Amino acid sequence: MADISARKADHIDITTQRGVTPSVSPGWDDIHLMHRSLPEVDLDAVDLSVRVFGRAFRAPLVIASMTGGHARAEELNRRLARAAHEFGLAIGVGSQRAAIRRPELLSTYRVAREAAPDAFLIANVGAPQLVPQRNEPALSIEQVLELVSSMRADALAIHLNYVQEVVQPGGDTRAAGCLEAIRHVSAAVQVPVIAKETGAGISRSQALLLKDAGVSGLDVGGSGGTSFALVESYRAADRELGASERLGQLLATWGLPTAISVIECAGLGLPVIATGGVRNGLDAAKALALGSDLVGVARPMLSAALEGTDALFAYVGEFLHTLRVALFLTGSRTVADLRACQRVVAGQTAVWVQQLEAGLQ
Ligand SMILES: Cc1cc2nc3c(=O)[nH]c(=O)nc-3n(C[C@H](O)[C@H](O)[C@H](O)COP(=O)(O)O)c2cc1C
Repeated sequence: MADISARKADHIDITTQRGVTPSVSPGWDDIHLMHRSLPEVDLDAVDLSVRVFGRAFRAPLVIASMTGGHARAEELNRRLARAAHEFGLAIGVGSQRAAIRRPELLSTYRVAREAAPDAFLIANVGAPQLVPQRNEPALSIEQVLELVSSMRADALAIHLNYVQEVVQPGGDTRAAGCLEAIRHVSAAVQVPVIAKETGAGISRSQALLLKDAGVSGLDVGGSGGTSFALVESYRAADRELGASERLGQLLATWGLPTAISVIECAGLGLPVIATGGVRNGLDAAKALALGSDLVGVARPMLSAALEGTDALFAYVGEFLHTLRVALFLTGSRTVADLRACQRVVAGQTAVWVQQLEAGLQ
């Protein structure tokens, strides 16, 4: 279990100090929102508030699940949660697996609830932990319920991270039975369950299976943002594990770009969170226009949080201002108006869309 804490700490250093963005684009550069020379709305009248999962958010932004379970995580989660509280955002914590075996680590997650008493707080567990792995039994439903209640969480994200697991030497690669396990968890927990990819995107067919299994939302976690294939590749290189290092590099571009995954998952009757390479308010506007309900940002939030609360508040403030400007320039007073705005899809993203629509996939 000390291993998990060390890995989580490595993730902080690697994602903020090394090149973890893959060569594939999340697709935002291919999306053009139609400019309105006559916005016919005042910038000050633009309203970013949304209602999702039955809850009101002051802006459609989620501080994506990142950390917990090691020494530095407590202060980071405190800073991230302060930003969620200040700006009325949703916030996720990182995988809570470490705290199951070492209850003394619980405070590194629970601090998020203490610093953001009213925020929409998302608990986190890995899908691989819901089925028996080689050296570890599956988590029981009681343990999963405890993860949620220990933080008074408002939702539970089940992360789907098999790309990361296959690169990690000795990773949890048993996946048979996961969908059934997700079905059981979704039926048992009292809060919405969000199926959350972590860098390879969710296709429409997978989204439909997850919907049928009872999940209440999808976080597309598309490619083009932080790549955990690259993160694990660096960790393997540091341990001179050449085959894993190379596999991670090969898989860095695997999966559906975030914009494509949003298009695939939108309109299926489930709230969609667009995470993966969303870097500024303009990216966010494009994701929302494509049909996501919220956008999630991880790595830039972490980098800013490492600098301090002022840097984090400045990043979020600028992000939301840019998003407001994008609504203004498209003549959108609300996020719902933005969805109706005309757009052009170009480049590689258009090729993906055409082939998926033509059933050539
Ligand atoms: C340091 C770090 C740790 C992460 N840990 C988790 C995790 O424990 N559970 C999870 O669901 N996602 C985790 N993620 C993935 C993010 O939630 C997000 O899906 C991914 O980083 C893509 O977003 P980005 O491009 O904005 O970084 C982590 C991301 C980072 C940067």
